[in-house]
Amino acid sequence: MQFAKRMEQFGEGIFSSLLAMKKRRLAEGKPVVDLSVGTPNIPPAPHIIEALVEAAKDEKNYIYAIQDLSELRLAAAQWYERRYQVSLDPETEILALLGSQDGLAHIALSILDEGDLMLVPDPCYPVFADGPKLAGAELYYMPQRKENGYIIDLSQIPEDVARRAKFMLISYPNNPTTVLAPDSFYRDVIAFAKKYDIMVLHDNAYSELVFDGASCGSFLQYPGAKDVGVEFNSLSKTYGMAGARVGFCLGNREMVKNLGLLKSNIDYGIFLPIQKAAIAALTGDQSYVETNRAAYERRRDLLCDGLTSIGWRVERCPATMFVWADVPEKFKSSMEFVEALCERAGVIVTPGSAFGPSGEGHVRMALVQDEDQIQSAVQAIRESGILL
Ligand SMILES: Cc1ncc(COP(=O)(O)O)c(C=O)c1O
Repeated sequence: MQFAKRMEQFGEGIFSSLLAMKKRRLAEGKPVVDLSVGTPNIPPAPHIIEALVEAAKDEKNYIYAIQDLSELRLAAAQWYERRYQVSLDPETEILALLGSQDGLAHIALSILDEGDLMLVPDPCYPVFADGPKLAGAELYYMPQRKENGYIIDLSQIPEDVARRAKFMLISYPNNPTTVLAPDSFYRDVIAFAKKYDIMVLHDNAYSELVFDGASCGSFLQYPGAKDVGVEFNSLSKTYGMAGARVGFCLGNREMVKNLGLLKSNIDYGIFLPIQKAAIAALTGDQSYVETNRAAYERRRDLLCDGLTSIGWRVERCPATMFVWADVPEKFKSSMEFVEALCERAGVIVTPGSAFGPSGEGHVRMALVQDEDQIQSAVQAIRESGILL
């Protein structure tokens, strides 16, 4: 069998390798605390589950959805108005996605031809680069360096690269580095995109997981944003609905239309009961959002403060459901440390190198376990002596 050449760019995903490590340890009867994959373990609010169950009981809801319910787009528009003071036309400036992941892979295919140049952050959430790779595009990595607060430095992008670039992806609060971007960054991105005629996508998956009393807005709040780009937002983390697969592409109507056209040839829309659950999430009681945020903040404090108290200085992350930590000095690479941490302490984390070249020297820990498990992880790391 001769498979497509494009598949040669994809090795076994890091999470499959980490899962194999975890299984080996469990088979030996040893305990494991898994802080690798960012899958939320906090269930959605009861009214969301009830809306899903009620809609699932209705036989009429098993047809192909084909399109978004108008009520869903309207609910998303009202959400953006209420939360970010951004006005959007539900029919032309909003498209529902089967999670941002669906959108991230497909928007690249809808914009980029083979050989086109795409600007992606480094380190980044893997599909940011995988979508353009599927499209046969060339990638230019924009480093997010510690010395620059992990914010992309647009002035470092060479003139010829900027001129050739067709599409640019940015995302703050950032996975994996956890930082928020200042207002000036978004203004600079819009000016840069206008100057060089570049389309922009801002992925805002963690807008509601911001800690220490801070908050963040939307890319679409900044003047001119809709002229150059779109934002993705998702119900996965904000409403604990990761498995339900609902997100949105919002903003520039040509980009929304183009992505919708591609998707209409690929999928048949979101299962209607899930659309109804999403409407319930967006229009119902919002107290869950704060309760959920506070739960992640407590987990962050326990993990960061706990690790720092046992000799691994890990700063409290400002946002997201992740902690981005420096690899202790005696380890040569993030993967070497990840393997040792699993072997000696049974704690599974993701090597920074999995997120791109600038991720080396770090590990990412996902706050996806309850507080007692996080405490067990800290204790196991201390008892293993790995930090000595
Ligand atoms: C930055 C970022 N974008 C998008 C996603 C995918 O979200 P969704 O569940 O909406 O596909 C994730 C998931 O971890 C993420 O970290």
